[in-house]
Amino acid sequence: MRNLLVTGGAGFIGSNFVRFMLERHPDYRIVVLDKLTYAGNLDNLKDVEERFGDRYAFVRGDICDAKVVEEAIHKHDVDTIVNFAAETHVDRSITEPDAFIRTDVYGTYVLLEAARKFGLERYHQVSTDEVYGDIPEGYRSKEDDPLRPRSPYSASKAGAEHLVHAYFTTHGVPITITRGSNNIGPYQYPEKVVPLFITNAIDDEPLPLYGDGMQKRDYQYVLDHCEGIETALLKGKPGEAYNLGTGVETPNIVMAKKILDLLGKPESLIRHVKDRPGHDRRYAMDVSKIEGLGWRSHHSFDEALEATVRWYLENEWWWRKIKGGAFKEYYRRQYAERLRGSGQA
Ligand code: NAD
Ligand code: TYD
Repeated sequence: MRNLLVTGGAGFIGSNFVRFMLERHPDYRIVVLDKLTYAGNLDNLKDVEERFGDRYAFVRGDICDAKVVEEAIHKHDVDTIVNFAAETHVDRSITEPDAFIRTDVYGTYVLLEAARKFGLERYHQVSTDEVYGDIPEGYRSKEDDPLRPRSPYSASKAGAEHLVHAYFTTHGVPITITRGSNNIGPYQYPEKVVPLFITNAIDDEPLPLYGDGMQKRDYQYVLDHCEGIETALLKGKPGEAYNLGTGVETPNIVMAKKILDLLGKPESLIRHVKDRPGHDRRYAMDVSKIEGLGWRSHHSFDEALEATVRWYLENEWWWRKIKGGAFKEYYRRQYAERLRGSGQA
């Protein structure tokens, strides 16, 4: 493996992964293929071109377009695909599911067809713990558990995973899958809860907490996730899926209070607002399978959150541009009525 096609590499996790892999593997070249949707942002890769020169290339294109995908593979002599490209926000999948089905399912199929046609060494699918659905207290999902997705986002990611498995079984494409828990860290688009709460708190704006705030997520640092994907690529067995998280869960209300504490802001900024429909209350995974390959999470939740808060404090240039643009209209649609309902517009 030397020439990687990283689809969705201009997004949050993809851009962290590109930087991480180029730093760790001086003999690798990476070509990013990204459509640059609202979530894609070349600011996320600003330093990469300067630092890594001709070991890095960028192609603007859609993973649903077989011609664009095949040209990129051919031109850059690609031997491995790592697929991050997706529509990723659960709330948007509730109001505008169309792009989720198209990119997350059909786009994955196009990439798998290309992997088969070119006989690639590896196709890696970046998936999510959300494919398991809502997990009862006391249980941790294992890789062989049935997939029971409950939102249009997680259903599209589960659909993609079934295709990935099918291409392994039917066509012998050497695939691996990682199911990551919620990531936090630099360059996360501020529609996701942690960067939304941090940037709102910096501006003394309310933090809209869905329902009772007792939903639990396993928040992991993005670079730990990147290292887990590297582990699956280098040591994973073709045909296998690997859970990837810290194994420690935190209720949203605890996360919100910690952010306020780190920023020295009052808890009165928290607003309990109308819940998300079909909201999964808990995700929790058993991560012993990837630990068996030697991977370990390096950041506790507190360390990951602290590093994330620091990054947003030091990089206002990055997020103020986003929050001042089209994001404003999204925020109004998603939160204005909710916040009015909580007594604050
Ligand atoms: P993101 O929304 O920040 O970035 C997605 C990227 O994909 C953007 O750059 C976007 O422009 C690109 N893209 C979207 N549609 C495309 C298309 N049709 N063709 C080419 N590019 C396209 O997402 P993220 O949070 O970085 O997530 C990356 C991957 O990791 C996704 O597959 C997601 O399901 C998975 N994942 C995310 C998390 C998380 O906590 N964020 C956790 C587990 C798994
Ligand atoms: P999110 O970042 O959207 O990730 P996911 O739904 O994929 O896990 O949300 C994380 C948790 O935070 C989830 O339980 C929903 C909750 N949440 C809020 O309470 N308020 C918000 O404004 C958002 C966006 C999420």
